[in-house]
Amino acid sequence: MASIAIDGPAGAGKSTIAKLVAKNMGYVYVDTGAMYRAIAYYMVTNKIDIDNEVELTKACEGIDISIKYENEAQQVYLNGENVTPYLRTEETGNMASKSSAKASVRAALLDLQRNMAKEYNVVMDGRDIGTNVLPDAEVKIYLTASSKERANRRYKELISKGETADFDKIEADIIERDNRDMNRDIAPLKQADDAILVDSSNMSIDEVVEAIMTAAKKIS
Ligand code: DC
Repeated sequence: MASIAIDGPAGAGKSTIAKLVAKNMGYVYVDTGAMYRAIAYYMVTNKIDIDNEVELTKACEGIDISIKYENEAQQVYLNGENVTPYLRTEETGNMASKSSAKASVRAALLDLQRNMAKEYNVVMDGRDIGTNVLPDAEVKIYLTASSKERANRRYKELISKGETADFDKIEADIIERDNRDMNRDIAPLKQADDAILVDSSNMSIDEVVEAIMTAAKKIS
């Protein structure tokens, strides 16, 4: 089985790009952020104090996450319930950034992610795929963009959905999440030594996909 690992900070466009690359390659797209978001959603809805190690470990033992593909779209099931519609909110994203720094949360997902890559050819995106989950991935990409550009994309997305948005707050949240994701003790976000850096600040979606497809051509 072959793997393409795409890591990078929040809002760099990983999922949009990874989905397109997976389609082009005929690979399965695995969104590991959605798995961390599902755990975070569990912690919020069950009012788990994530700073209480005993409570957190116990909660992790009771969590079953599975990924299914329905009409080519990834659906995340948490203890049998499809929680996909609840995962993309800012609240869940911020909570995921906090709970994903915890060892028991990361341990709960590591095998699941590795097993998916054993079973399928995958494009897997996240924070630690090239460095930790799939260190032998055939292609590793570190996809980033300036915090201004990432905030701008998120701002436009919210406005286009008719939601209210505060640009400065969005950018501040992005910077805070970057700091947490990059500075945690376990599996922090960083570019793997053998990853290709793609800065999408001034690139179109097609150009980014093209850059990754060029790198992926080495997979026979
Ligand atoms: O990519 P995302 O915004 O959906 O990810 C949500 C959070 O999950 C992110 O702030 C950090 C965490 N995460 C992680 O620690 N490791 C991964 N492989 C993927 C996500």
